[in-house]
Order: sequence, then structure tokens, then C-alpha cells
Amino acid sequence: MHLLTPNTARLQRENAAPDSPGRRPESTVRMSEIISALSYALDLTEGRPMGHSVRSCLIGMRIAGEMGMGIAEQRDLYYALLLKDAGCSSNSSKLFHILSADEIRAKRDVKLTDWTRVGWESLQYALTHVATGAPFLNRVRTLVQVAAKQQTESCLLVKIRCERGASIARRIGFPEPVAQAIHSLDEHWNGGGYPDGLRHGEIPLFSRIMNLSQTLEVFLVNRGQQPAIDVARKRSGRWFDPELVRAAASLEKRGQLWSGLDQEQAIEHALAVEPKESRMLANEEMVERISQAFAEIIDAKSPFTFRHSNGVADAAVGISRQLALSEENVTFMRRAALLHDIGKLSVSNTILEKPAALSKDEWDVVKLHPYYTFEILRRIPGFEELSDIAAAHHEKLDGSGYYRHRSADQLSLEMRILTVADIFDALAAKRP
Ligand SMILES: [Fe+2]
Ligand SMILES: [Fe+2]
Repeated sequence: MHLLTPNTARLQRENAAPDSPGRRPESTVRMSEIISALSYALDLTEGRPMGHSVRSCLIGMRIAGEMGMGIAEQRDLYYALLLKDAGCSSNSSKLFHILSADEIRAKRDVKLTDWTRVGWESLQYALTHVATGAPFLNRVRTLVQVAAKQQTESCLLVKIRCERGASIARRIGFPEPVAQAIHSLDEHWNGGGYPDGLRHGEIPLFSRIMNLSQTLEVFLVNRGQQPAIDVARKRSGRWFDPELVRAAASLEKRGQLWSGLDQEQAIEHALAVEPKESRMLANEEMVERISQAFAEIIDAKSPFTFRHSNGVADAAVGISRQLALSEENVTFMRRAALLHDIGKLSVSNTILEKPAALSKDEWDVVKLHPYYTFEILRRIPGFEELSDIAAAHHEKLDGSGYYRHRSADQLSLEMRILTVADIFDALAAKRP
């Protein structure tokens, strides 16, 4: 049997593109370039437009600058802002089961709701996000259950999310203040937040800045500049540290709060605000840890994909070794496999966990996930080739795959390895 195809021989001969963290250890790619690109996946899980974390990061760093924060602290805050939603996928399945409805839509809209106040706003939120589409009596029953357990369940959901987020930051190798900041993101100035009900100075300063920044970003994108600053003032002293709100208002007044937040520019501006003195390069070990951490985020979305990314990685490594690929290419294939389903973070658990055949519309949503994989990974310098391969994992030789409908001559050996590894792991797993 000829295992060494011309394609394999090419792979072994070929020198990869220089400075590619996808392939080579001596990368000159910055950590911030990788983390900011991957933060787009976290945005999708939270129902936010891609770039939410990056824009929140820009706003937060401006507030920190206005407060006179030192460089070392700014470096930690910078990564805490980019990774604030690292735990976002860990409560998706639970939230979907509590609401019996689309959890991404619920996550998206809760950010525009003052859920701490019982009133028309929170009632309207419940009516439009709980058991939508279920028969009337089932809906009423679910609404009553949700209302009765609202506080305990909300606290638990935040707890799961913030603990997982903090543990991911630690796993990547960020210092403890970054992990703590992510852990306390949802605490409120007046003690009404979760998970620990911390108040005032008990809440880490980073978390206070992050909570204010993300709210400013959400209202800016959905309602505009004036409503964004209005909501910050309205919640000052309840949700937010009044001193930080004053700093944001002062920046706003001088025209320095919102500049450079446009869709395409935001990532460039966010990369520029990372303190120069403490910029980190992504060495081989870091790229490895980040890939593993994001595989964990991807797999935490649904209990049915538990360990899928690692399973595909193991299979891809096995096949690559069997085909006698070089160790450098085996590493490359493992990374592509760990990240191949990152676009799946855009798919609601109503679809991922549906115990029946999917409708056409639902299939259309599923078929977009490799597109999002490409859109997220292509932003990382040096990941151009890896993003192309990862995005092709549902293509088929006869052109019937998705989402680019490639034919056999457009599918490289690496793409074929990844596709087989993906199908192998999916068939071996228990799924609906
Ligand atoms: Fe997939
Ligand atoms: Fe997959």
C-alpha cells in the first residue's frame, strides 16, 4: 500500500511560511494578535457581533488610562478584557435547558436588560425568552418555574461561567489577577451581582472596569453613544463604581471614549493599546496552551461534544503519523483539529442538542459553522493556511459538502485528514 502520496511528499519537503505560529516555534506573532482574534468566537457564544470583546477592551483600557493605572496592571487588565467571556460556553447547555429556548438570543438580550429590577423590563424579557414556541400551558409552567428559581439559577449560571473562565485564563498561563478579574466580572458595586455578592472595593478593580466597559459597548452598538453613557450614569452606584463612570463620562466629553470602534478598525486599535513595554510573543508553548484552552471552550458548549476537539486531534495525529508526515506537520494538524469547530460556538444549543431531525433553517445555521471557523482563525497572522484547512472539515470529494462546496481537486491532503478524523470522532461519540 502506498501511504506516501505525492501530496504527503510535498508536505514533508515543503518549508512552511516563516513566522507562522500554526507551524513554527520561532514565531514573531504577538499573544494579543492570537487572543484578540479568538475573542471573536467568545462574542458569538454571547450573541454579540464579532468584535465585542475587542471593542470592550479598547473602552476599558481608555478608562484605565484615565484612572492613571500603571503599565504592569494595564497589561493584566488588557488580557482580562479580551478573555472576559472565556467561560461563556460552559453554561450554554444549562441555560438552554432552564429556558427551553434559544440561549444565544437570551444571552444577547439580557445585556440590554436591567434584570436586577423587578418590573416591566424584566417581565418582558422573561415573556420573550422563556419556552418560546412551546404550547401555552407548557410555557406558563416553564415561566413559573423560571421565576421561582430565578435568583438561585442566575447565581449558579454565573458561577459556572466565571469559574470556568478563570480556570481557562490560568490554564493559558495568565497571572492570578487576570483570572480573578474574569471570576468577578458579574459583581455589582452595590453587592447585587453574582456569584459572591461582593460590593464596593471587595470587587477587583479590573472586574469593575470590565463590567462597565462591556455594558458601554453593548449599548453603544445597539442604541448609540448617548444611550450608552446614559445607562452608565443610571446604573452608577448600583452596578458600577461611580468613580469609573465619572472617568468614562469625562473621556466621552472630550471625544476620547468612542473613537476607533468601527467594525474593521477595532482590532487594529485594540492591538495598538496593549502596553508596549510588556508585549508578549506567542512562543510554541503558548500557542499550544491557547489551542488547548479554546478546544475546551468549544467542547464545553454541549454535553454531546464533550472532548470532541481533542478526539479529532488524536485521530488527526494518528492518521498524520500513519502517513509519515513530519513532526512539524503533525503538530500543525493537531492545532487545526483542536480549533476546527470554533465556529460551532455560533450555533444555539436548541440546534446542537435537538433530539430530532433538524429543519432546513436549522441545517442552514449548522452549515455556517465552518464559515465562522474561517472568519475567526483567518485573523491570526500566520494562521492563513490553518484556517483554510480547518474550514474545510465538512467538504466532500464529490462536492456535496459545505460550506464552499469544494471538489476533490480543491481538497488537500491535510483537509482530507481532518475530515476523516472529524467523522471518525463523531461516529465514535454518543450524539442526538
Ligand atoms: Fe464541524
Ligand atoms: Fe467537528
